[in-house]
Amino acid sequence: MANEALHLILPTAEYRHEIAAYRQEFLDAGDSMDGTGPLRRMADPMEWLAATEACRHPETVPNGWVDATQFLCVREADKKVVGMIQVRHWLNAFLREYGGHIGYSVRPSERRKGYAGWMLNAVKPFCRSIGLGSILVTCLTDNEASRRTILKNGGVYDATVHEPMENEFIERYWIHLT
Ligand SMILES: CC(C)(COP(=O)(O)OP(=O)(O)OC[C@H]1O[C@@H](n2cnc3c(N)ncnc32)[C@H](O)[C@@H]1OP(=O)(O)O)[C@@H](O)C(=O)NCCC(=O)NCCS
Repeated sequence: MANEALHLILPTAEYRHEIAAYRQEFLDAGDSMDGTGPLRRMADPMEWLAATEACRHPETVPNGWVDATQFLCVREADKKVVGMIQVRHWLNAFLREYGGHIGYSVRPSERRKGYAGWMLNAVKPFCRSIGLGSILVTCLTDNEASRRTILKNGGVYDATVHEPMENEFIERYWIHLT
């Protein structure tokens, strides 16, 4: 990814076609849309934009959800949305055990270019700005790409836990920000 400028930005309507294309690429690939909030079930990017904005604030986040900030990772050269990353502002019982503070994904056609590692590093100042001293990041035990992304961002292994609903084993890592 030498010389490739990337930016994390809040989602805007300017990117609606890119957001729809991002979603479609994951559907076509049958892949997991981590760190995109409700994108999988929202075919209309305008609906998703409204939902992510509502989720950002404790007053408007849907009942039972944790307020969270959604970012697009945009490549400067062609304005393509190459990744998405979401920061949950605090941990409820489920997130504290399994989900963690952060979710992320990179568009299938844009993988193995270092974008996930870049995104996780680039979101740290925002995490600090909302008062997080350490962030919990988790991955499935068979997700080598995500584990490497976490480790190269300073992730300290905490534990491997069993998530009974999906019957999955999840590795937990803490990244200390201070
Ligand atoms: C996980 C994911 C975000 C990685 O994105 P990416 O941009 O391809 O990752 P990077 O290029 O930054 O690579 C990160 C590390 O993983 C390694 N890696 C990437 N893809 C890999 C693969 N398929 N198998 C093994 N290692 C892989 C890279 O070599 C790199 O390691 P290194 O720095 O030690 O060389 C992407 O595969 C994805 O979106 N997956 C679906 C959603 C998901 O699993 N999100 C994470 C939920 S915890």
